[in-house]
Amino acid sequence: MMSRLRKLNRRQAALLAAAAVLCGAVAGGALTGHLGFALTVLGVFQAGVVAGLLLLARRLTTLLAVQRAAQRDVRHVLDQTQRRLLGAVEEMLLAAGDRHRELTDTLAAQQKAAANGTDRLLRAQTGEVEALVQLFQGFTPRAPMPPSGGFALNPTDLLDLLQLIRTRKPKLVLELGSGTSTVWIAYALEKVGGRLVSLDHDPAYAEKTRAALAAHGLVEVAEVRDAPLRPVLLDGRSFPWYDMDALADLREVDLLLIDGPPEKTGPDARYPAMRVLEDRLADAATVVFDDAHRQDERVALRKWVETIEGLTEEGEAPGRHAVLSYRRMVRQLTPQGQ
Ligand SMILES: C[S@@+](CC[C@H](N)C(=O)[O-])C[C@H]1O[C@@H](n2cnc3c(N)ncnc32)[C@H](O)[C@@H]1O
Repeated sequence: MMSRLRKLNRRQAALLAAAAVLCGAVAGGALTGHLGFALTVLGVFQAGVVAGLLLLARRLTTLLAVQRAAQRDVRHVLDQTQRRLLGAVEEMLLAAGDRHRELTDTLAAQQKAAANGTDRLLRAQTGEVEALVQLFQGFTPRAPMPPSGGFALNPTDLLDLLQLIRTRKPKLVLELGSGTSTVWIAYALEKVGGRLVSLDHDPAYAEKTRAALAAHGLVEVAEVRDAPLRPVLLDGRSFPWYDMDALADLREVDLLLIDGPPEKTGPDARYPAMRVLEDRLADAATVVFDDAHRQDERVALRKWVETIEGLTEEGEAPGRHAVLSYRRMVRQLTPQGQ
């Protein structure tokens, strides 16, 4: 009881004291026979109690209104948060759906491209196998043949090249870049009665090809010459190209195979070929240009055809090479002054 009384604030203590005084006054008045006084004090006391209760009721009503407003605010905030959350989840679901659709489309496109690639590869391989079979049916090598493909011409390109030799019967073939093709060309020339000179900038590969020619008994038909790369100046540009000394004695080339220098030796590595060798070609000659699908080679081919009179590309060739035909243009000399 005492501890509760100690917890009262000043105002409560004052009210309690006033109530106690009033109660004391009522009791005193009643006991001393002053009933009128006692009743008056009691009336004041009751009026005070009623006023206090009314004040309390008003306070409670205000508190209730404040609480309701706070509840409304909380509900509003909750509603908004919930709506935002739902919106964000919906957006995420839509984005995830879009991403899923994108991924599915990409996957499907990749699967299709892979299937097309595999299909093309299979068809290309079948073509190469068919060409290889025909190559070996046309010739019976006297020693194991070096491999085709990779740095060497593919069987499809070799087959077309040998067909050109069989049908056009060149007397002199010049090859830029020796290797497997040197041996196959030599076999073809052995049959039609022509000669092959092959240049190689790399002494090790030149020696390897010489050894292959010897193993196949073809040294009478073909020779490999060392031709280190030297700077050649064309259109104001310097290109590393075969040493011209290696070509000094060559004239009337009927068939030129351009398969070197390799692209790693510099940009537009093969461009100088036709610019340098035009005057070494026979009046009617064939030019076989390997790797003609590559960007540098496509540019070189276009420039040659545009600038060299009498040079035209023959119809589409199988494989990676292009076939060009060269016809030297003889200019009519007109008497001066006419
Ligand atoms: C495209 S290759 C010539 C290939 C040749 N005409 C043939 O069909 O077998 C051009 C040059 O690359 C070099 N070469 C040949 N095989 C090579 C290899 N496996 N790796 C790097 N260089 C190679 C040789 O010096 C060759 O003259």
